[in-house]
Amino acid sequence: MRLDVITIFPEYLEPLNVSLVGKARARGQLDVRVHDLRDWTHDRHNTVDDSPYGGGPGMVMKPEPWGEALDAVIESGADDARPTLVVPTPSGVPFTQQLAVELSERPWLVFTPARYEGIDRRVMAEYGERFDVREVSIGDYVLAGGEAPVLVMVEAIARLLPGVLGNAESHRDDSFAPGAMADLLEGPVYTKPPEWRGHGIPDVLISGHHGKIARWRRDEAFRRTTANRPDLIERADPASFDKKDREI
Ligand code: ADE
Repeated sequence: MRLDVITIFPEYLEPLNVSLVGKARARGQLDVRVHDLRDWTHDRHNTVDDSPYGGGPGMVMKPEPWGEALDAVIESGADDARPTLVVPTPSGVPFTQQLAVELSERPWLVFTPARYEGIDRRVMAEYGERFDVREVSIGDYVLAGGEAPVLVMVEAIARLLPGVLGNAESHRDDSFAPGAMADLLEGPVYTKPPEWRGHGIPDVLISGHHGKIARWRRDEAFRRTTANRPDLIERADPASFDKKDREI
C-alpha cells in the first residue's frame, strides 16, 4: 500500500518511522512518502494561508499550493493509479473501525492534514470530480491540525494490512472487529505472575475449560460495554445478544 502525506510539518510525521508502521515500511509492506506543502509555494515567505472571505477569525489554507502539491503527488503514481484522498477535519464523517477496514483495502491513500481553519473548499470540489475524497474526523474535539489524526488513521489502517501484525489472529478479538463480539468492547486481559500485589486472576482463566473461558470473556465484554459505552448496546441488533447476556 502507498501512503502520501502532504503537510507543513513533515517532522510531525516522524512517528511513522517507529514501531508497527516503521517496521511495515522497512519490510516494504508500506510505501510512505511525506511531503512539505511549502515546496509548492513561490513567494519569499512560503505563504500557505490567507484571511477568510466573509470575515471571521483565523486563516484559511490557500488552494494554489494544495493544487500543485496534489497534482505532483498524483502524477508520481502509475498512469492509471487513482488515490483515495483522506482529508482530516473535525467536520468529517467519524473514523471508525469499519472505515479503517475500507481504507485498508485501497492501494493508495493521500492524506491532506490542514492547519488553521482548514483548506479552501474549492480544493475538495476540484479533486472530488476525479477522485474519491473522504473528509474524516477522529472524534468530537478540535485539534490544532490534522497531523495527529493522520498518525491515528495510518496506525489503525496499517495494522489491518496482511502480514503487518505478527499474529494474524490478533485483530480478530479487537473491540469493534466484525464477528460474534462485533457489538462489544474487548474485556480485561491478564498475564503472569498469577498474583501481583495481592491481586489474583480470575480462576476460570486457568481452568483449561475453553467453553467457560469464552463465556467469561463475553460476560466481561458485555459488562464493560454496558458501563463505558451504553450507546453501543442500544444501537446493536438485539438478536446479537443471547439470553445469558441479558442476565448480566
Ligand atoms: N483536525 C482538527 N481536529 C480534528 C479532528 N477531530 N479530526 C480530524 N481532523 C482534525
